Amino acid sequence: MNDAMTLSQRADALEEKMSRELDYVVIKSRLYSMAEGDMSPAPNAGALMAKNPNARVLMGDDPRLPPMPEKPTLIDFFKYRFGPAAHLLQSAKHAFNADLPEKMVLACLLHDISTIGFIRGDHGYWGAQLVEPYVDEEVTWAIRAHQVLRFYPDESVGYDYPQSYINSFGADYRPDPYVAEDYKRMRNHKWYMSGRMITVHDIYSFDPNAVVELEEFSDVIGRNFRQPEQGLGFDNSPVAHMWRAMIRPAKYL
Ligand SMILES: [Fe+2]
Ligand SMILES: [Fe+2]
Repeated sequence: MNDAMTLSQRADALEEKMSRELDYVVIKSRLYSMAEGDMSPAPNAGALMAKNPNARVLMGDDPRLPPMPEKPTLIDFFKYRFGPAAHLLQSAKHAFNADLPEKMVLACLLHDISTIGFIRGDHGYWGAQLVEPYVDEEVTWAIRAHQVLRFYPDESVGYDYPQSYINSFGADYRPDPYVAEDYKRMRNHKWYMSGRMITVHDIYSFDPNAVVELEEFSDVIGRNFRQPEQGLGFDNSPVAHMWRAMIRPAKYL
């Protein structure tokens, strides 16, 4: 809290915050509770509202989150919904410096948007699905594939199994059978090398001092991401509801 606030201003701010909190009841989606290891029944919205007749379940914008424009763009999601994107920016810059085709620079820029904005597990599949209506088919394919290909070395391009995976999963970890199956299919696909290129540029920091700004990629996004004019989430595409889930992640229904 701002030190310049007087005691009474602080009390007012706290009271304002509390009254705002009392205006609505958050009932988490089952997926969020399960991620907490919580298998108990969902809180009873009716009982909570009975305790506070002014409260309603959350059906509009979540006051705890930054407001989003009416017609949000991909860049708005980077700004207002995604977590820190330094890894994606560094990957894209690395790919750009290696003279990869522009659409592959975009693929590197977007390859982990599910990890930083949506769901971690199977993030390649979720991420590919999120962008599918808006990018070249090869970009979607490569984003989906990168998650699988990360588990498998390819000496021909100098890609080793990541040390970070050994540290994080243990030396005896083996990918799930569906991943192993998908690897076999992807290995023989015509776009294998595009998926592989994401893994090659999937680096955490090529230069720890390099600060890469999203604005550097405005043109790449402009030319390769078909931003729907109604805004992501409102274009009636098969994935619009997934973008809306990020806009209002605690919406009751
Ligand atoms: Fe990834
Ligand atoms: Fe990554």
